[in-house]
Amino acid sequence: MDTLKQGKSPIYEPGLEELLIKNSSAGRLAFTTSHQQGLSQADIIIIAVGTPQSDHGQADLSYLEQAAKDLAEHIVRDCVVVVKSTVPVGTNQYVKQLLLEQLKNNVEIKMVSNPEFLRQGTAIEDTLKADRIIIGSDDESASEKIQEMYRPLNVPFLLTDVKSAEMIKYASNAFLATKISFINAIANLCEAAGADVRDVAKGMGFDKRIGAAFLNAGIGYGGSCFPKDVKALLHTSRELGVPFSLLEETIAINDHQQELLVGKALKRFSALKDKKIAMLGLSFKPETDDIREAPSVKIARSLTAAGAKVAAYDPVAACNARKVIGDVIAYVDSAVEAAKGADALFIVTEWEEFSQLELGAVLNVMNQRIIFDGRNCLDETALKACGPVEYYPVGRPEVILRDKRA
Ligand code: UDX
Repeated sequence: MDTLKQGKSPIYEPGLEELLIKNSSAGRLAFTTSHQQGLSQADIIIIAVGTPQSDHGQADLSYLEQAAKDLAEHIVRDCVVVVKSTVPVGTNQYVKQLLLEQLKNNVEIKMVSNPEFLRQGTAIEDTLKADRIIIGSDDESASEKIQEMYRPLNVPFLLTDVKSAEMIKYASNAFLATKISFINAIANLCEAAGADVRDVAKGMGFDKRIGAAFLNAGIGYGGSCFPKDVKALLHTSRELGVPFSLLEETIAINDHQQELLVGKALKRFSALKDKKIAMLGLSFKPETDDIREAPSVKIARSLTAAGAKVAAYDPVAACNARKVIGDVIAYVDSAVEAAKGADALFIVTEWEEFSQLELGAVLNVMNQRIIFDGRNCLDETALKACGPVEYYPVGRPEVILRDKRA
């Protein structure tokens, strides 16, 4: 809270601190932990609390329930309550019921479901230049008020009923996750057949009905949304008695994909005991320090369980990674440092600095010149120019250049 007031973001998100400072100093943005202070003048209240995954895959609504309780106690004027959190179909209705049951003051509350589609790392651009804004409401005046709020962004609106708005968010995330699992399954076929998944994805993406986005094969999706949202939608389908086994397969393919690099290393080395592994990347994707559901966590645990010694480098996520993975791996300050004496290099997150690495400098400090690229981010021509190397990408033929003197 104090850090936010000082214009400091608690998470790494490019451009966010500049916006915090700009809008706080212009008097457009303020922070408080007092409900009274925060709610007394509000015409629109946006609930954006987390809905993490609970034990059986369903969304944990406890933060939302608490927010509803707090609002019911402190709302003092008519207002529109917007649920931005990702919530299962029917939740807005449930929140409204909670609010109405517990309201302290005689005020009118209207509900709007307005799911959020921003991605970490590109949150500002995704917000200001969104593809669409979904406004789900059963009340025309509430819907109009939220349209008015967003109108300056000049982004297309889709007005729906509340339940459809809730479903759009899960359907979108589950579809994108399935698209990733699909291309990963194709990548595995490409590997067996000797094709190149990057060309296959490019060829598919030219078709406007398919689209080029989210066809990057690799070690699977992570993060705070796709893994939990696919599971939550699957849970909803079971609750409604409508089987959705496609989602089970999306999850299974993703789980398998996250084990892929370690499997390849096991095949290459037979055993990983005492092998030194350099790991590049810890965050679940570039431009964020978030390591929730990051493939890096699973990979680090599998490697250390197999007896390997891991040194990891990430431009911003080491601190968060240490909290989850602990000190069973070492955290170092550069790619070259991680590579020193390593028997293999694992690329786990496609940070731009990794695709621009001076590969010669990295390979020269390694004990064995072997690379497992989980994100297909190295340039093959540059790599081949560096001399002997073994390069294992995903969904593409491996490159094995032997030392001619050997
Ligand atoms: C996602 C949704 O994109 C966003 O609309 C929603 O609001 C929140 O969840 P985010 O989790 O921030 O956003 O990241 P995203 O860029 O979607 O990537 C998610 C995961 O998929 C990452 O682990 C990424 O590495 C992986 N991914 C993405 C692939 O493996 N291949 C791709 O082609 C794209």
